[in-house]
Amino acid sequence: MIRRRVIIDCDPGLDDAINLFLAFASPEALEIVGITTVAGNVPVALTERNARMVRELANREDVPVFGGCERPLRRPPVYADHVHGASGVDGMTAFEPRAARDDAHAVDWLVETLRAANAGEITLVATGPLTNLAAAFARAPDVLPKIAEVVLMGGARREGGNITPTAEFNMFADPHAAAAVFACGRPIVAIGLDATHQATATPERLAPLRAISGPVAEAALGMLEFANTVEFKRRGAVGAPVHDPCTVAYLLAPRLFATKPCCIQVETEAALTLGCTSVDYWGATGNAPNAVWVDEVDADALFALIAERISRL
Ligand code: RIB
Ligand code: CA
Repeated sequence: MIRRRVIIDCDPGLDDAINLFLAFASPEALEIVGITTVAGNVPVALTERNARMVRELANREDVPVFGGCERPLRRPPVYADHVHGASGVDGMTAFEPRAARDDAHAVDWLVETLRAANAGEITLVATGPLTNLAAAFARAPDVLPKIAEVVLMGGARREGGNITPTAEFNMFADPHAAAAVFACGRPIVAIGLDATHQATATPERLAPLRAISGPVAEAALGMLEFANTVEFKRRGAVGAPVHDPCTVAYLLAPRLFATKPCCIQVETEAALTLGCTSVDYWGATGNAPNAVWVDEVDADALFALIAERISRL
């Protein structure tokens, strides 16, 4: 496997945290250049702190963490603490990370780091609202050729929405940023609810994680069990969908995913469908594909991969 240089932009967030553990545990495949955080599930002060907590638990303080945009490009902030808890990572015991936060703003660091990279060298993994990425691309379009591809969690086709009837949270929270990223011209892999709703944390799938001891497994299980409790209260379902780890898992094991090139556009004006992703799965528009749409995942294999990697930490 070719080792990728990646930047992870995220809004930890229960599933973002699991995704970070997966990335931290895969140094043979991923050189994590840095982690940028954004307002999303909870305010950026918390997403940034949460990323540093997860980094410390994984013993990966070699990876810098940066705080980014406090609010979407144009919209008022939208949060999802009703899903992730007030801390953003309820289910794990919060603590003040021993490594202080880095004062550089995430967008400044993104632009500087991408400018210093070689062409096509950096893979961007995005698991929150796309505000940081869109702000960097708008300020410095010269960085775009440095991006190998963007692997993002967001959008939906068959599955409708999870924050409104028609929109997935990351797209809805900052639709203008999402539209800008899908129009950036670089290769995009979009993993939406159609796939991530298959990745539910059922008791069977959590069993391998229960067999692992140590603070990382304990934190991961605590967060997933919190997510399951919320899912059962809200929807009566057993097993919450675990969205974000599909992004790093796609880099580690693309064979677990089914994909199709599509033209994907984001609604930025209509109030009723704001943030809705128009996924042109059957080529109705005649537009050339601007992304690869992921609509299936081997969920059992995904959770086995998560457990195997967490057992390394
Ligand atoms: O809709 C799911 C997405 O929104 C995930 O990235 C979750 O962490 C939230 O950010
Ligand atoms: Ca997220």
